[in-house]
Amino acid sequence: MPNIAIIGSQWGDEGKAKIIDYLSEKSDVIIRFQGGANAGHTVIVEGDQFIFHMVPSGIMYPDKVCIIGNGVVFDAEQFIAEVNALREKGISLEDRLFISDLAHLVLPYHKVLDQASESNMKDAKIGTTGRGIGPAYADKVNRIGIRTGDLLDWHNFVSKLSTAFEQKRFLIENVYNSSFDFSLNDLIDKYKNLREVITPKICDTGSYIFNCLQQKKNLLFEGAQGTFLDIDHGTYPFVTSSNTVSGCICSGAGVGPSAIHEVVGIVKAYTTRVGNGPFPTELANETGDKLRSEGGEFGATTGRPRRCGWFDSVQVRKAIQLNGFTRIALTKLDVLNSFDEIKICTHYTMNGKNIEQFPSSPTGLEKIEPGFETHPGWKSGISQCKKISELPENAINYVRRIQELCYNIPILIISVGPDRSQTIEVEPL
Ligand code: GDP
Ligand code: IMO
Ligand code: MG
Repeated sequence: MPNIAIIGSQWGDEGKAKIIDYLSEKSDVIIRFQGGANAGHTVIVEGDQFIFHMVPSGIMYPDKVCIIGNGVVFDAEQFIAEVNALREKGISLEDRLFISDLAHLVLPYHKVLDQASESNMKDAKIGTTGRGIGPAYADKVNRIGIRTGDLLDWHNFVSKLSTAFEQKRFLIENVYNSSFDFSLNDLIDKYKNLREVITPKICDTGSYIFNCLQQKKNLLFEGAQGTFLDIDHGTYPFVTSSNTVSGCICSGAGVGPSAIHEVVGIVKAYTTRVGNGPFPTELANETGDKLRSEGGEFGATTGRPRRCGWFDSVQVRKAIQLNGFTRIALTKLDVLNSFDEIKICTHYTMNGKNIEQFPSSPTGLEKIEPGFETHPGWKSGISQCKKISELPENAINYVRRIQELCYNIPILIISVGPDRSQTIEVEPL
């Protein structure tokens, strides 16, 4: 198998983890390269559900190596909760789960600051996950962050933590008129314990990955969030704090571009968004409610109801441009089973004029009008289908139309249910 990147093409929650788990069977090493525990990645194997926030989604296969790369902001408490849950299920992690020594830590004060900043924003809230992502990346860019590698030298770690804690305490008390409900000593005690589990897994993951490349092992790069949550290319400021497009794999995993052979865009058969910000095809009505209930569209990290709307081909065409998708995996097609009619947004207009490109500013997006075409539904269950030819004709026509609107990029997979087994391989790699 080639080395594959998996990237969300919309606003996250496209079903990336289900496809990552499926493709992990033929991969050797699965690598996360950005984001943090804001991700909620659901894997279901034979009815057993696991939601990963920190641990890569390939971990369910006992022989795969999973890596948390340097571009990730690392939440040690969340990581340990997942490690414990995996161990309880009898899944061994010995010598196959590694953390980059260069990954920055998300500390408890980052979460408090994230939530305090949101409360302070009044009407301009981003609707973050509250997982401390923005403040942790801000510290990294400000060059005052603490990295996992710092845990290897305890005295150095305590010294850095003490300085950072005092700075953050000043900020929370004087800017946000609030306070922490933990002391520096509480943090030191907590990290003394966490350190025992984490330090044996910390290493130079860039060199590890390079060795794997030399040995022609198959790599799978696991994207988190989605293209339109990218800090540069997304619907700023309603975005996350990392680059989410395929271009950031190199810096976030420590590889060169030639290490990536295929870029698979994960495309949900309709659109969702959790958190605030523009959403041209949103259905704030009964049809949107039906998409939410049929699709189980509630956040895997925060439990918030996801906003739902029709498939937006203008948006996904932009994602293709930004990521260089070579394949598409179309997910959650089965969610549309019971709809009489299904719409696809084919174009945007503004003041009667066609808009070719997905506008880059929220104000531009608020002014555009989405233009739709209507397709007849197929009104039957498809989750047992194993080949594209077994799908009802109207479902095949819907898939083909999406492909046509997406520059005819080959479809690798059609996902027809949440379980690993509910997967149609259309044109295997
Ligand atoms: P991710 O963040 O992109 O990995 O996606 P999430 O795990 O946050 O959300 C996707 C949700 O849809 C999860 O509950 C998955 O179990 C579920 N899911 C994934 N693929 C399919 C599918 O083809 N059909 C249905 N019905 N559910 C799916
Ligand atoms: P996965 O990997 C969907 C959204 C939040 C908010 C914005 C900023 O599961 O697809 P943050 O906490 O990152 O500062 O929040 O980004 N967001 C996601 N939405 N899926 C995700 O990840 C998300 N990660 C962050 O809801 O709007
Ligand atoms: Mg998710």
